[in-house]
Parts: sequence; structure tokens; C-alpha cells
Amino acid sequence: MISIKTIFHEISKHKKVLISANLVAILSTMLTIPVPLLIPLLIDEIILGKGGEITKTIDNYLTIGSPEYYILVVLIVTLCLKALSLLLNLLHIRLFSKISKEVTYSIRKRLLNHLQCVSMSEYDMLGSGAVSAKVITDVDTVDKFVSSTVGEVIVETLTLLSIAVVILYLNWQLALVILILNPLALSFYLRIFRAVAKIKKQENKAIEEFQNSLTESLELYNQIRVQNREQYFLNDIDKKAKEIRDRGYQFGFKSEMALEFSRMLIMYSHDIFRATGILMVLLGLLTIGKMLAIFAYAWIIMRPVDKLMSYVHLYYNAQSSIERLNEILELKLEPKYEAKIDPFQGKKTASIRLENLSFSYDGKVTVLDKINLTIEVGEKVAIIGETGSGKSTLAQILIGLYPISDGKIFYNEHEIREIGYEKVRENVGFVLQSPLMFNSTLRFNLTLGREYDDTQIYEILKVAQLYEFVDGLEQKLETIVGKNGTKLSGGQKQRLSIARVLLDNPKVIIFDESTSSLDNDTEDRLLEALECYVKDKTIITIAHRRNSIEKADRIIDLSQLS
Ligand SMILES: Nc1ncnc2c1ncn2[C@@H]1O[C@H](COP(=O)(O)OP(=O)(O)O)[C@@H](O)[C@H]1O
Ligand SMILES: [Mg+2]
Repeated sequence: MISIKTIFHEISKHKKVLISANLVAILSTMLTIPVPLLIPLLIDEIILGKGGEITKTIDNYLTIGSPEYYILVVLIVTLCLKALSLLLNLLHIRLFSKISKEVTYSIRKRLLNHLQCVSMSEYDMLGSGAVSAKVITDVDTVDKFVSSTVGEVIVETLTLLSIAVVILYLNWQLALVILILNPLALSFYLRIFRAVAKIKKQENKAIEEFQNSLTESLELYNQIRVQNREQYFLNDIDKKAKEIRDRGYQFGFKSEMALEFSRMLIMYSHDIFRATGILMVLLGLLTIGKMLAIFAYAWIIMRPVDKLMSYVHLYYNAQSSIERLNEILELKLEPKYEAKIDPFQGKKTASIRLENLSFSYDGKVTVLDKINLTIEVGEKVAIIGETGSGKSTLAQILIGLYPISDGKIFYNEHEIREIGYEKVRENVGFVLQSPLMFNSTLRFNLTLGREYDDTQIYEILKVAQLYEFVDGLEQKLETIVGKNGTKLSGGQKQRLSIARVLLDNPKVIIFDESTSSLDNDTEDRLLEALECYVKDKTIITIAHRRNSIEKADRIIDLSQLS
């Protein structure tokens, strides 16, 4: 799970950069601390003719003696200090932003790694919009907290403390006025903001729901238009957009109000403080120069106070987002089995054996009940059964997409848990009943990013009865197939997904109603070409049409197995 603590742990991994960046930041702050003191004190020393530290120090190095030169020297020193501090500041921003971006990257990577291993049953329930809202919006909220606090919190606190020391030194009574009033305003702000942060969480939740609806509607837009339901879905999305508007408005308004109110309290405290200052000069307790210097510091102190207030704001927001990110990390993982043995190695194909195999998606309804089945090495088996009898379920279990509730699966007499799901999926090809396509090129949809040369691809396309189709396209393999392959027919998609699996040359292949959308002639030609291609492999064909199972060595009725 992610927490503020784990984030700081992640930050502390960059110890070297962190230390040097903080040293640079501290140095930069220290350089600016004396700046407001220099010019105001000249009022006492030069204009009021009282003399003092600054003119004495200059006299030690230079013999000028003229007030104009004192002013010029002090001005040059002031400008140089500011410039130097700016340069150091730029360096510190660079160092810190590197750390904070590394930290947010590591959070994103952790979420993605987790999602990669989430069990299929959790995936079935997951909205892609909801996940992307979290991975984008919430990580961004955390990023804002990390990037500002990591870089600034130490510096701002230090600035606050150093200025406190300087003004206490200049005049402790007047300093106390400002040092008591400012924290009062801060604590007031803390209190209201805790409540406002809850609205931030609702706002991010509203963004998530909006994104989820929008993504799903866009994905299924064809279906929506066919059913003439655009208005309904648009209204639903609009409702969610309004929710974001309202939550965003509430959050924006209330947090700004909290901030402005606290700022006003601070302004009030300044007015009280300045009035006290003038009174003290009047009573002879303070010089004018010192009073102006303290006034200048009082202005400068507002920045760290304001910054600290915004950290609180970001902290609470980040905490809400962390809670939402943890919802991803709470998703159950697919069980991972250590690969102890590779029963496919050195073999052309494999035998399959199911022993008392039972399965349920939800732990209540049994889909497969104590199935026993042996498929010999190189055997071609057809599985038939009514729709809903669990044929696709069985196929998915065979490659470990869902963990079995009870019983055992063996490949070449080795249990699937000894082999590991990854090895199984590497060797057992599965042509899905409803293949999905990426809105990319035919080549990408065939290779999914793996490297194959064109001759290999075209050879497979011939087997899958797609050669003529692809060859006839102007852009051939580089043709874009459209969203979920809308530019392809159902049969073309099926043949493409067969080719996709054949390209991988797996040792065992499961076809799940993979030719159901083909006309009889094409199906016959495909099965014939396939026959030679899969000669040595163990094949399971799930089908309900006669042609596709005629060539099988054995026909198994799933409903008779249990
Ligand atoms: N991902 C899933 N989550 C929950 N139940 C499912 C899921 N997939 C299928 N089912 C249910 O399991 C049963 C078997 O489905 P399936 O294996 O697809 O049947 P077939 O392929 O034989 O038509 C059906 O009752 C179906 O409702
Ligand atoms: Mg099915």
C-alpha cells in the first residue's frame, strides 16, 4: 500500500541529491536573509547620523567616508546577494524536480506493475476509465504534494525560523507580536482545510466516474448508435460532467475561501503589528531604521507562512488521492507459481490431462464440476456442448486465466502450478471466441509488437485464408484496422486472430469457436490449410458447427464429462 510514509521512504532513496539540494537551498536562503536589513539600517546610520555596524564594516575594507558611496556599496552588495541566491535557487529547483518526478514515476510504475498481475476475475469488474482516472489524476495530485514539499518545506521552515531570530534580535517585543499572530492564522487554516480536503476526494471520484462513462461509451459507440441511444448516454455523461463542475466549484470556492480568510487574518496581524511598531518609535523604544527593517521582514515572512498553508492543502489532497490509489493496489493478484519445470522443452507438443477439475467464477455457481479428461500427445479433439455449458471457461482455465477451484491440470504429466502460467501461455496458443483488435496496423494486430519478417507473416496469412485480402489492400500490412477492427468483417477478425496465434507457433492450440463467422467454403479451405500446419500439435477445437469438427480424432460432449 502507498502512504505518505512510503512516499517519504521513496524520497529518502535519493539521499545524495536530497542532501546536496537541501544544502544549496539553505545556502540560497541564508544569502537572502540579511538583505532586507541592509538598506533600512542606512536610514539610522546615514540619514539620522547615528553611525553603526554597516558603515563601520565598510570602513574596515574601504576608506570612502562619503554617504553616497556607502549607499552605493550597500546597494551593490544587496543586488549581488539577490543574484547569487537566484542562481542557487535555480540549481535547487532542478535537483528537487528530478527527485519528485522520480518518485511519482515510481508510484505510477508500482500501480502498473500491480495491474499487470491482477487476476482476471478482478479485471472483469474493472472500468478502464476509473483506472486511468486514478493513474492520471490521483497520481498527479500526489505529484503536486511531493514536488512542492520535497523541494520547499525545509527551506521555507528555515526561512521562517531565521527571520524570527533576526527580528527577535532587532526587537523582541515587536517580534513577539508578529510571531504569535501568524501561527494563529495558520492553525485556523489547518482546521478548515481538513474539511475542505474531503470535497477534493469527491471531486476526484466524480472525475473517475465521468472518465469511466466516457471511455465505455466511446468504446461501445457503435452499439449505442445502432440502438439509437446516443441521447441517453450523452445525458448520462453530461450528468457526470455536471457533478465534476459542482464538486470542482465547491472545492475551488471553499479552499480559496479558507485560504483568503487566513490571508486576511495574517494581514490584520500585520496592521496590528505595524501600528505597534510606529507606537514604539514614538515612545523611543525603537529606531526608524530598525522599524523599517522589521516591517520588511514581516512582509517576507508572509511567503513561508503562505507556502506552509498551501502544503497543508496539498497534504490533505494527496492523502485523499493515496486512499484512491490504494484501491488499485487492493485488487487481488493472479496467483504466481514458480516455474519449476518446463514440460514443453524439447517436445513438439504436449498431452493434456484434467483430474477432477471444478470451477466457479464467484464461488457459488459451479460452472465445471469434477471433470476428468485425457488428451493424448498430438491428438485433435473437438469439444461440443450447449452455449453456457462452460466450453470457453474450460479453455480459459487451461491457460490459467482463472485459477481453478479444485482439481488438477497436467501438461505432459506435469501439474500447471509446477510449470507456471507464463510458461503455459508461452506454449499453449488460445484463439479467443471474441477476438479484440487494436486500432493500429494489421501488422501490429498480428505481431502485438513481436518481430517477424514479412515472409513469415505472409505464409501464415495464406494458412489463415487472409493472404488475398491483405495483398489486395493498398497499404497491405500497414493498413489501420480502426477501433476494435471496425474496418474488418467478423470473419476477417476471426482469421486475423487465428493468424496471430499461429505466428507464435505454440505447441498446443485451443480454438474457441474460431471459425463461427466464416462461410462454409472459406472454413473448409482454412481447416485444410491448417491441418497440415498443426499436424504434430495437440489441438482442442471448441465448436458447434459440423465442418469444424469433422476432422477431429475424437468428439467430446462437455455436458457428459462431469
Ligand atoms: N467472466 C465471467 N464471469 C462470471 N461468469 C462467467 C464469466 N464468463 C462466463 N461466465 C458464466 O459461465 C458460464 C459458462 O460460460 P462459457 O464458458 O462462456 O460458456 P460456453 O463457452 O460454453 O458458451 C455461463 O453461465 C456464463 O454466464
Ligand atoms: Mg464460449
